[in-house]
Amino acid sequence: MPWTSLCELTELRDGEGKYVEAGGYQLAVFLHEGIVHVLDNHCPHAGANLAGGWINAGCVVCPKHGWPFHLENGQLRDNPTVAVDIYPVRLMEQAGETTLVQIQLPDL
Ligand code: FES
Repeated sequence: MPWTSLCELTELRDGEGKYVEAGGYQLAVFLHEGIVHVLDNHCPHAGANLAGGWINAGCVVCPKHGWPFHLENGQLRDNPTVAVDIYPVRLMEQAGETTLVQIQLPDL
C-alpha cells in the first residue's frame, strides 16, 4: 500500500485533533507526547467527529458523549469489541523542509 500525506507535522498541536480527508477517508489526526496517531474520524456511537475531541489517559475522548477510544488500537476503553480503525503512521522528513505526516490507507 502506498503512503499518503495528510499534513505537515507543524500543523499539529499536542493534545488537539486535526480533521483530514484523504483517499476517500475522513480521519482524526492527533499528536500525543510526541507521537502521531491517526484514527477514523467517525465515532461509532452516534457519528460525532473524533477530531473535535480531546485526549485523556491515552484515549481520544469523543466530544459528544465522552466515549474514550485508545490512541494505540482504537478500542473503546471499557468495551474492546467496539473500536474505530487506526492507520500505520510514518513521518517523512524532507531535506531542509517540513516533516510530512503520512499513513497507509487500504484501497476503498
Ligand atoms: S457520538 Fe461519540 S460518544 Fe456519542
